[in-house]
Amino acid sequence: MAGGPTTPELVAAISNAGGLGNLGAGYLTPEQLRSMIREIKQLTDQPFGVNLFVPEQRIESEETIGQMADHLNIYRVELGIAQNPAIQKYSESFEEQVQVLLDEEIPVFSFTFGIPPQDVIQTMKQRGTIVIGTATTIEEAKQLEAAGVDAIVAQGSEAGGHRGTFLKSVSDTQIGTMALVPQIVDHVTIPVIASGGIMDGRGLVASLALGAAAVQMGTAFLACPESGAHTTYKQKILSGNEDCTEITRVYSGKAARGIRTEFMNDMHRYPGNIPAYPIQNAMTRDIRQAAAKANNPEYMSLWAGQGLRLATDRSAAVTVKQTIDQANVLVKLIFNLRRVGD
Ligand SMILES: Cc1cc2nc3c(=O)[nH]c(=O)nc-3n(C[C@H](O)[C@H](O)[C@H](O)COP(=O)(O)O)c2cc1C
Repeated sequence: MAGGPTTPELVAAISNAGGLGNLGAGYLTPEQLRSMIREIKQLTDQPFGVNLFVPEQRIESEETIGQMADHLNIYRVELGIAQNPAIQKYSESFEEQVQVLLDEEIPVFSFTFGIPPQDVIQTMKQRGTIVIGTATTIEEAKQLEAAGVDAIVAQGSEAGGHRGTFLKSVSDTQIGTMALVPQIVDHVTIPVIASGGIMDGRGLVASLALGAAAVQMGTAFLACPESGAHTTYKQKILSGNEDCTEITRVYSGKAARGIRTEFMNDMHRYPGNIPAYPIQNAMTRDIRQAAAKANNPEYMSLWAGQGLRLATDRSAAVTVKQTIDQANVLVKLIFNLRRVGD
């Protein structure tokens, strides 16, 4: 989970508890990335993963950018921050981030938003790193398998955060986890990791029943003490319910699921075009940061999945343990029921 929640403490706590902690590193500079990987290595000797965003080349008209820059000033006035801030760069260099991962010999590399160049996938694999891609449709999963990944995250539309969709428009591809996982399982030969709305042992067992080899959980860990999510964000997670999220492009230019805010509601009435990711993401950064400083959730991005009513503030280790324990109980129960039925 890029953007702060996945601290080295959270990643290591999950790996130490028997899960596979993942550092969401899409927004990190190469220096930040290197130092966080080293911190994780200090905190655990278990495997962990690092996740990056596959870059996209999006050209945006000066007019669209200029109109958005003017519009965003309304929120800057409200938050009492400087208007028209200079933007140094839209995103970090993927190539430099990849180089850090190779230098640091990380155990697992995962990515979203597309498929990295072949040499990246092959070099990682040659160095012994397990490579995992993200799919939101069967066609994306097939392309990832053909590109040589070792496993696929099947991201259902319940999932919090950005959609990994890269072949079609997000509005055409909002497939729920329950429908997505078994169809991907039927069309690829590599392991599938179910993701989206999985919050406890029930979600884990259901995913295994659908043919998944593992699950990826995000929202379930957001309010843990080890999570670096802002306190106000954690409170919104713990008080949120299943119908308070929606998929929006207004924060970053790319579709992502988060808790509804005033900024979302207001921006949905914006008559112009929203610049593509990562331009819009860079353009709203100062607003999100100022809102966080002012403890004002209405202008922060509060990424969360539809399962958020099941989120707790228990530690990451307890969350992993309870998920596994509950799944074990359920599996035994189902096995015994089957025996009774035989
Ligand atoms: C706050 C947040 C940030 C996320 N950031 C990333 C990311 O950087 N890379 C990625 O592949 N997925 C990211 N995701 C999506 C998760 O990998 C995963 O698909 C999702 O959390 C699963 O659904 P759930 O939130 O219902 O558990 C993020 C999700 C959240 C909630």
